[in-house]
Amino acid sequence: MPYSLAMQTLIQNIRNIPKAELHMHIEGSLEPELIFALAKRNQVALPYASVEALRAAYAFTNLQSFLDIYYAGASVLLHEQDFYDMAMAYFERAHADNVIHTEIFFDPQTHTERGVAMNEVINGLHRACLDAKAKWDINALLILCFLRHLSEESALETLEAARPYRDKLIGVGLDSSEVGHPPEKFSRVFAMSRDLGLRVVAHAGEEGPPAYIWQALDDLKVERIDHGVRCLEDPALVARLAKERIPLTVCPLSNLKLCVTPDLRQHPLKKMLNAGLCATINSDDPAYFGGYMNANWEATFAALDLTMEDAVTLARNSFEAAFVDEATRTGYLAKLDAAF
Ligand code: ADE
Ligand code: ZN
Repeated sequence: MPYSLAMQTLIQNIRNIPKAELHMHIEGSLEPELIFALAKRNQVALPYASVEALRAAYAFTNLQSFLDIYYAGASVLLHEQDFYDMAMAYFERAHADNVIHTEIFFDPQTHTERGVAMNEVINGLHRACLDAKAKWDINALLILCFLRHLSEESALETLEAARPYRDKLIGVGLDSSEVGHPPEKFSRVFAMSRDLGLRVVAHAGEEGPPAYIWQALDDLKVERIDHGVRCLEDPALVARLAKERIPLTVCPLSNLKLCVTPDLRQHPLKKMLNAGLCATINSDDPAYFGGYMNANWEATFAALDLTMEDAVTLARNSFEAAFVDEATRTGYLAKLDAAF
């Protein structure tokens, strides 16, 4: 159904709002065309005959059905230059969507388990972050994620391997298959990460129950919750998240594609905003879920009939939740004010 004139005007305006993206897996920004180009460059065999055949496989029924394809796609990444090229392709898209600050997740275990050295991964991504600043004035930070379907020992080894690159990281996170892998499994590695001065976040309450969000807060002491949409099932949890202003990095198109919500019109974001939660909009794995930042904003605004006031709240929340010093935050908020 075409959008009303009022919605078309609103969408035009929200495209130009400066924003921070706080939940985006860089391996999830690998477009099929780049997967095939890197497969050719690195002589990696793919189980799909063509770009079209790969894209046709993007019909997911839940998180795991997506992760299986996502890890297969990441198998083409071998060298520093591959990680650099992947990240630069994302930054170009982010810039087009007026993303001025982005905090990028990456999954080193997906690569080190295939024999790729940590330095190839982090140096390639870090070099792209520097070039994104120089080319597009985007502030890009790196968050190393531990894969929760693997053991805590593997996460501890990963943290140890990343220690020489500590200065290139802003924080650590927790991702991959949620159900059956509660946050408490990673208490030690998160405590060690905090001791290193790293900021801490975790996926929780995407497919997993509200109890996982409580654990992420109490056992891992996270500063933000990634997804967290299932918090609405627990009023005491919502009250705590609101009172402590714990940001939630919500990913609407991801929730739709992974069947967390049956229809965007039933997406919980509006209820989360009405409950006074510090919710933000993000793209998660944009190459797989049908769109980058502005596509997520536009589809969500249209489906939930959000307003310009909501847009300002969401953009403000993204800057409030960003891992930056207060002077940088003030600068971002001034840019937001100037956009009106
Ligand atoms: N890794 C990449 N995308 C993810 C998601 N939506 N949830 C958990 N792990 C992920
Ligand atoms: Zn995610």
